[in-house]
Amino acid sequence: MTTLLHIDASVRAAFNPNPSHNSISKNIAKRFIETLQQQQVIDEYIYRDVGMNPPAFINQDWIGAVFSPEEKRTTAQKQILALSDQLIAEVAAADLIVIASPMYNYGMPAQLKAWFDQIIRINKTFDFDLARGDFPLQPLLSGKRLVIITSSGEFGFDTDGIRANQSHLVPHLRTLSKYLGVEHIDEIASEYQEFADTRHQKSLDKAFNQAEILATKLALFSTTKKRVAYGI
Ligand SMILES: Cc1cc2nc3c(=O)[nH]c(=O)nc-3n(C[C@H](O)[C@H](O)[C@H](O)COP(=O)(O)O)c2cc1C
Repeated sequence: MTTLLHIDASVRAAFNPNPSHNSISKNIAKRFIETLQQQQVIDEYIYRDVGMNPPAFINQDWIGAVFSPEEKRTTAQKQILALSDQLIAEVAAADLIVIASPMYNYGMPAQLKAWFDQIIRINKTFDFDLARGDFPLQPLLSGKRLVIITSSGEFGFDTDGIRANQSHLVPHLRTLSKYLGVEHIDEIASEYQEFADTRHQKSLDKAFNQAEILATKLALFSTTKKRVAYGI
């Protein structure tokens, strides 16, 4: 059983009347998922376009509801947490998570941060114990694999790149991913969109190619796992 949770975060659609407006991150994710689907390894597919349908921002009432003991929550508090409960259930169900995100202002879109804020929740996705000393937070989910797909207008966001110190998208996603229960991360990045030159085309071709290769590798891995599980 592979349950795939696919999160798209661009505010742009995958396809537009003017193709130059198409979301790059959504199209790379689409290629990755279609390649996986062709190999029939996805048993359940959960999709959220948080770019176009952003989750609500958390507020003081949300925090109040989270910190009220479950058995004492009012109906109104339960309603406030209903979206969070649903989003957490989707993460918990997933073996494989794909997050496709543009870089906005050197980090993630506010819409994607809103999704994480709804999910990273005490006693649901992490617990807190001061007996653990300086690191009191501990994730409660485990065993998941994450594919991070990004698109940026500029370039050089790798550790040794020319904009390494402005790279707040992938490092932030890596940090937060442990609260989704992620234990393995693959990353695919397309860069240079704003330059619209051959470097962009090359970067784009490479990202689509990586998406296909990774999906094929994961499909093979999943089939082998199934064969071992069923002894065939
Ligand atoms: C509001 C906004 C902010 C952006 N900020 C950055 C940025 O800080 N650094 C960068 O390299 N590109 C930036 N870009 C360019 C996008 O990352 C680029 O267009 C990317 O392809 C968008 O992803 P998408 O094609 O999936 O929509 C920004 C674009 C927008 C619309």
